[in-house]
Amino acid sequence: MTPVFKLSADAPIETGASDLLGRAGFAMSCAEAIANWQDDASLVVAIWGDWGSGKSSLKNLIVEKLRDLEEDRRPTIVQFNPWQTSRCEPTLERLLWRNRESSRTADRQGRQGNS
Ligand SMILES: Nc1ncnc2c1ncn2[C@@H]1O[C@H](COP(=O)(O)OP(=O)(O)OP(=O)(O)O)[C@@H](O)[C@H]1O
Ligand SMILES: [Mg+2]
Repeated sequence: MTPVFKLSADAPIETGASDLLGRAGFAMSCAEAIANWQDDASLVVAIWGDWGSGKSSLKNLIVEKLRDLEEDRRPTIVQFNPWQTSRCEPTLERLLWRNRESSRTADRQGRQGNS
């Protein structure tokens, strides 16, 4: 039989449909824990792991689960990648700008949903 040689783009997976490592259940638990956060203090969650161990993929699975939550529990999700901007403009400025854009979009969608 002729061997099949395949290359991989080594991109993070985006959805649970591509999860070959059985991490979707853990991602669901993380999403539930985040959605259940009621405290006034900020919550910071870090994903720590070796290079290429699947951190970004796990983050994507968690985001997917958060987006699947019922509307009244679903948080506003703003994705920000400092590696993409740090050489161009100050990271904090870009983060604040990104948050502002997202809350304006959420406001617009809220107004449309209420009209
Ligand atoms: N649950 C999974 N199922 C299938 N493939 C996966 C899974 N998690 C990660 N991979 C694959 O492993 C590789 C590394 O994943 P990923 O980029 O998420 O890791 P990372 O820890 O964020 O890497 P880096 O340290 O470079 O940021 C990618 O090719 C990705 O598609
Ligand atoms: Mg990564």
